[in-house]
Amino acid sequence: MFKKDLSIEFCGVKCENPFFLSSSPVDNCYEMCAKALETGWGGVVFKTLGFFIPTDCSPRFDALRKESTEFVGFKNMEQISEHPLEESLEALKMLKTNYPTKVIVASIMGENEKEWEELARLVTEAGADMIECNFSCPQMTSHAMGSDVGQNPELVKTYCEAVARGSKLPILAKMTPNIGDMNIPAIASMEGGAAGISTINTIKSVTGIDFDKMIGLPIVNGKSSISGYSGKAVKPIALRFIQQMRTNEKLKNVPISGIGGIETWKDALEFIVLGASNLQVTTAVMQYGYRIVEDMISGLSYFMEERGIDKLEDLVGIANCNIIPAEDIDRTFVIYPEIDKDKCLGCGRCYVSCFDGGHQAYTYNEETREISLNKDKCVGCHLCSLVCPVGAIGKGEIMFRDGKEKEIVM
Ligand SMILES: Cc1cc2nc3c(=O)[nH]c(=O)nc-3n(C[C@H](O)[C@H](O)[C@H](O)COP(=O)(O)O)c2cc1C
Ligand code: SF4
Ligand code: SF4
Repeated sequence: MFKKDLSIEFCGVKCENPFFLSSSPVDNCYEMCAKALETGWGGVVFKTLGFFIPTDCSPRFDALRKESTEFVGFKNMEQISEHPLEESLEALKMLKTNYPTKVIVASIMGENEKEWEELARLVTEAGADMIECNFSCPQMTSHAMGSDVGQNPELVKTYCEAVARGSKLPILAKMTPNIGDMNIPAIASMEGGAAGISTINTIKSVTGIDFDKMIGLPIVNGKSSISGYSGKAVKPIALRFIQQMRTNEKLKNVPISGIGGIETWKDALEFIVLGASNLQVTTAVMQYGYRIVEDMISGLSYFMEERGIDKLEDLVGIANCNIIPAEDIDRTFVIYPEIDKDKCLGCGRCYVSCFDGGHQAYTYNEETREISLNKDKCVGCHLCSLVCPVGAIGKGEIMFRDGKEKEIVM
């Protein structure tokens, strides 16, 4: 496996690479974490521990599929660790002893200030390198915990302060995406002493309905409930929250651990160039296993080698400046699609999509299967290029609305 030096500092802690397991069943005990660390993960955010020990339902998962794809979205109804607190603390201790160069993050969740402070003290004594506060599980059976807390900036601040009283370790505040403006609780967490933000936790969802029984999925003795959605489908939402933090004066330099739908090195790089210097993964590991980290390491290494980039931190946030407010987008031109006749199969999908979902700009000869474009109708939306199964539609001629030609970045 080709490897570059992917080490990066995150909240003052040196990470051999940015790839961490996020807090979930993938790192629920010593043995799982040990295997993952040996496979190449730079660190683990151990499954959330607390004084509250939940009883979880069965079944507890569902998946959203599309046509023949593997699942694109994943729903879970699981709460925090079902293991006794002492067992998890012992696991943290053994992990730090046996893997001293890896980063061990303890995810914690309390029900009141006293519990947050005490948990912080316990995981610090166990040897954790950082603490992640879980303010974001959307399916806790108690509303004094989880995403109900994460939606309340005063509580987020108060609990971060409690954790800071119990520990001097860097604190990460894990945000809920079940909120319009994540910047509000994120700023509150900074005021309470957090050193960085982890985002996102899962999105409240109903993934599907069983039509024979008219019950949501998964069915738990005839019922279901709203619960957290993760995996590839949530990646755009996670990226959007990170971008919004980067444009906020108070958050623009805060260290961010990016989470949500990371499966490949390209997904990971998207989070990095939008400002994350650490990355966390669960659903893709549940689907494909720990070994995906090998592809992520070699993919990112090849990319950096090709571009002549030596330090990972040189990539962090470099694309943020190219995401701008809608009112500042250049609307002075139309780029027409151009069909590569050598690639075109004559399938007509571009014609159908443009007719029924666009501007009726194509004509299709059913005998010759030839497509032709009527520029008077085409608005340059490029729906057609997105549906073409063989990538035969590219960007062609440009019409400048004001008649003034200029260089366009495409
Ligand atoms: C089954 C399952 C259990 C989870 N448990 C926790 C948890 O205990 N603590 C936590 O902070 N996040 C938990 N999460 C959320 C993940 O850590 C992560 O934030 C989310 O799944 C998005 O990342 P992904 O798309 O890579 O899965 C859980 C996710 C799943 C799928
Ligand atoms: S760019 Fe839009 S309007 Fe033009 S042909 Fe394609 S789908 Fe139709
Ligand atoms: S969708 Fe692509 S392959 Fe099919 S007719 Fe259009 S350009 Fe050709």
